[in-house]
Amino acid sequence: MADYDLIVIGSGPGGYVCAIRAAQLGMKVAVVEQMKTYGGTCLNIGCIPSKALLHASEMFEEAGHGLAKLGVKVGTPELDLPGMMTHKDEVIDANVSGVAFLFKKNKIDGHKGVGRILSPGQVEVKPDEGEATVLNTKTIVIATGSDSMPLPGVEIDEKKVVTSTGALELEAVPGHLLIVGAGVIGLELGSVWGRLGAKVTVVEFLDRIVPGIDGDIAKQFQRILKKQGMDFKLSSKVTGVTEADGGLSVSVEPAAGGDAETIAADIVLVSIGRRPYTEGLGLAEAGVEMDERGRVKTDAHYKTSVDGVYAIGDVIAGPMLAHKAEDEGVAVAEILAGQAGHVNYGVIPNVVYTMPEVASVGQTEEELKAAGIAYNVGKFPFTANGRARAMNMTEGMVKMLADKKTDRLLGAHIVGFGAGEMIHEAAVLMEFGGSAEDLARTCHAHPTMSEAVKEAALAVDKRALHM
Ligand code: FAD
Ligand code: NAI
Repeated sequence: MADYDLIVIGSGPGGYVCAIRAAQLGMKVAVVEQMKTYGGTCLNIGCIPSKALLHASEMFEEAGHGLAKLGVKVGTPELDLPGMMTHKDEVIDANVSGVAFLFKKNKIDGHKGVGRILSPGQVEVKPDEGEATVLNTKTIVIATGSDSMPLPGVEIDEKKVVTSTGALELEAVPGHLLIVGAGVIGLELGSVWGRLGAKVTVVEFLDRIVPGIDGDIAKQFQRILKKQGMDFKLSSKVTGVTEADGGLSVSVEPAAGGDAETIAADIVLVSIGRRPYTEGLGLAEAGVEMDERGRVKTDAHYKTSVDGVYAIGDVIAGPMLAHKAEDEGVAVAEILAGQAGHVNYGVIPNVVYTMPEVASVGQTEEELKAAGIAYNVGKFPFTANGRARAMNMTEGMVKMLADKKTDRLLGAHIVGFGAGEMIHEAAVLMEFGGSAEDLARTCHAHPTMSEAVKEAALAVDKRALHM
């Protein structure tokens, strides 16, 4: 007799959402988690704490530099860093206890400890202290997420040389923060510490920032970040970090090779990507196959090479995003219940939570060119939007890409205040196979930032009204 219909290993957004959906569908479910609290990377050391610090530091920046322009004098704001960290910790607590509550509500058993697959129907749980137990189950879902990618030759101590985890709990604002990698983590956390007073230098291997984001948008984004004081060293790589005079000495070389230079820094943040986390899971012994990048290999229904073992989230292929993991969690639970669970990988929004935000969904112009797809482009700047002017938030633009023949929307890209909210009207439209004209003919409330989305859709047909 199995103890459970389903055991989920890992309680991040993939795992906990999968458990809840499976319980809703009538399965008896357990979750195994090795951290002290549920919620995974996202709730404990990722999405949620970073957004708490992004918001708080944004308010600090607004009070110091934004409000005076609106005729609001508040004097020079004073940073209470411990207070800001308390805010972040309270936000984490509220979210992780929310997951514990949802487990209770849905009668999901939580088992704290390291999970290891002994066989397709057996999971061992090894707690920090005490004996390991073995649970029997009909099905296993691996949702063990990801971990920071190390930089060869650079040792992480999470005090001075940190990953995102250490960068979320620095005890003082660094004089100079050097960031390796101009990806999402580097630019979000660089924004946090830059607003709080650090000088920020970003060293990026490629000749551009945020690879994967539409080129036009990335260029404008970089200009905005530069204006905010962020320095970029593109086409460069960090080859070593050593302790020097109480600080750090960082060797930086051109990516293509050449003379190294040395840069002094107080803190180095290594944010060069994340890798799937499968340590201690016993996958090789259980016969679960991996792909060339160390990700658990699955078929279109999330089944691994072993019957009865499935995998979702950061540990499998695809973008490492919380909402992608969540949607896969729902899909696999529905598939296990005999339903038609499905994720549309063509419509997964992506948001960088800087100020302003960058958001995109669908294909970039570079991807369309590479695929030989003929398209029309519509662009609209926020400088021409009344609400943006009223709020002093005129930086950025909306860019729409639609199929040349059918007008079907293929991609939407926004850099601007509130981009992360606005992107969803394009996402919903694309989910229903809508056209740029459909969006352009949809009445948008005035005055809103979203009118720029409508105008960009009109611009696809060269008939923007306010430009
Ligand atoms: P995870 O959230 O990584 O959860 C996996 C869990 O499994 C962990 O709790 C881990 O302890 C546990 N585990 C692993 N192995 C075992 C084992 N053997 N036994 C028991 N438990 C185990 N994404 C966004 O979409 N938006 C954002 O704003 C965003 N911000 C981020 C900010 C930062 C700083 C970081 C680092 C990431 C951010 N991400 C963001 C990415 C997001 O956190 C991940 O995509 C998401 O957490 C993946 O979910 P998951 O369920 O696959 O794995
Ligand atoms: P990333 O993949 O976004 O960016 C890494 C950057 O580092 C790239 O620009 C890459 O070219 C560069 N790089 C790689 N090796 C390098 C080297 N040796 N020297 C210099 N640069 C180098 O990875 P990041 O920022 O670590 O984030 C990991 C993942 O976490 C993201 O890809 C995303 O999936 C997720 N995440 C999502 C967030 C969001 O949705 N807002 C926020 C934070 C993380």
